[in-house]
Amino acid sequence: MLVNFNEILLNAKKGKYAVPHLNINNLEWTKYILEKCNELQVPVILGVSEGAAKYMGGYHAITGMVKGLMEDLNITIPVCLHVDHGSSKETCIKAIDAGFTSVMIDASRHELEENIRITKEVVEYAHERGVSVEAEVGHIGGTEDNITSSATNATLEDCLTLYNNTKIDALAPALGSVHGFYKGEPNLDFETMKTINEQLPIPLVLHGGTGIPDDKIKKAISCGISKININTDLQSVWSKAVRKFLEENQDVYDPRKIIGSGEQSIKNRIEEIVTLFGTKR
Ligand code: 13P
Repeated sequence: MLVNFNEILLNAKKGKYAVPHLNINNLEWTKYILEKCNELQVPVILGVSEGAAKYMGGYHAITGMVKGLMEDLNITIPVCLHVDHGSSKETCIKAIDAGFTSVMIDASRHELEENIRITKEVVEYAHERGVSVEAEVGHIGGTEDNITSSATNATLEDCLTLYNNTKIDALAPALGSVHGFYKGEPNLDFETMKTINEQLPIPLVLHGGTGIPDDKIKKAISCGISKININTDLQSVWSKAVRKFLEENQDVYDPRKIIGSGEQSIKNRIEEIVTLFGTKR
């Protein structure tokens, strides 16, 4: 069932667990995630960055692929198809019109007032069509989609102002996590995370899930995080497995064997992630 994230994440907020947002890159990636989450019977959010959307051909191609896989593979879990870091209203509209069930509008590079203005317009368009919206306050730094930026932490006041003026469905407050691998220990502001969660009725999102130690992931969930975004982690385990396979099998040229040699690494990692997050149906 292709759904928006509202039901999935409100259940997670109530049940104090997190749902994985896993970024997809191609058909195989999507198939492995759907198969594994269906086997584990847990909901999943498929995240699509603008770069990944371009790489896969566009939003219609992705919607068709996801819907087709869900039908052919008899996927029965709730699946949310979500734009990750949509940088403009136009991107979000394109994805919504193509059948995405959820979008993140990331206007966090603008001043708060402008962030609110853009986010509000996206919410109006999305909500009329039953699509959920995530927004970002502060700025989550690091490297994503080959773009590197520096971080600014969110304040409680800005989070409340953005929520009250836009009525978004989930919020990603920048509180010390970064995209890509961490240099040293991640320094998350759990205190502010907890306060934001207590004062907002909507689920909170943690970006930059790769490389955060297990105890900090658990603490973030206990402070109200309901959705955790993972991208680099799956890319890293997949590429390690494929590199090893190619080194050991120099004469293989079938792309299905080469790409597929990373399947088990992705599926094993998803099982560990779901166990750590305590994700429930
Ligand atoms: P990582 O690549 O660090 O896992 O972050 C993913 C993310 O936050 C996607 O929005």
